[in-house]
Amino acid sequence: MNTSRLPIQDPIVKKGELICHQDSLSSGGKAFRFQVQCAQIEAFPGMNADDEDYLPAFLIQYGDRYYAYLNRCAHVSMELDWNPGDVFNEEQTYIVCATHYAVYDPSNGQCLGGPCPKGAKLIALPIYQIDQQIYFGSL
Ligand code: FES
Repeated sequence: MNTSRLPIQDPIVKKGELICHQDSLSSGGKAFRFQVQCAQIEAFPGMNADDEDYLPAFLIQYGDRYYAYLNRCAHVSMELDWNPGDVFNEEQTYIVCATHYAVYDPSNGQCLGGPCPKGAKLIALPIYQIDQQIYFGSL
């Protein structure tokens, strides 16, 4: 069997569960991809999914802080990655969508340029850190 053609199966992370250890990340480096169940996140305009459905998400480090977002461009609901986990520009300063190059502020998900509607943002997910481990949800 040619396993390279199998779809990527990112881990499903529930509220209160570990996403990853901070050593898996570096500032402006590869994102850690995971999935969240719709029932576990706040509904948002255009969500268009049932509670049982799963949505792709990612965790990044930017500077010495961590941020998680749904992997869903604010222009068209497509994943942002150039290659799995590659969401930053070459300079590692912005998140950039691979489809039509919308540019986002990594620290708040605000769209800074490109075809996003005015004021559009990535959908942030709550995370918290205990020691060097980063969890999905709030304490
Ligand atoms: S889908 Fe991301 S910029 Fe168009």
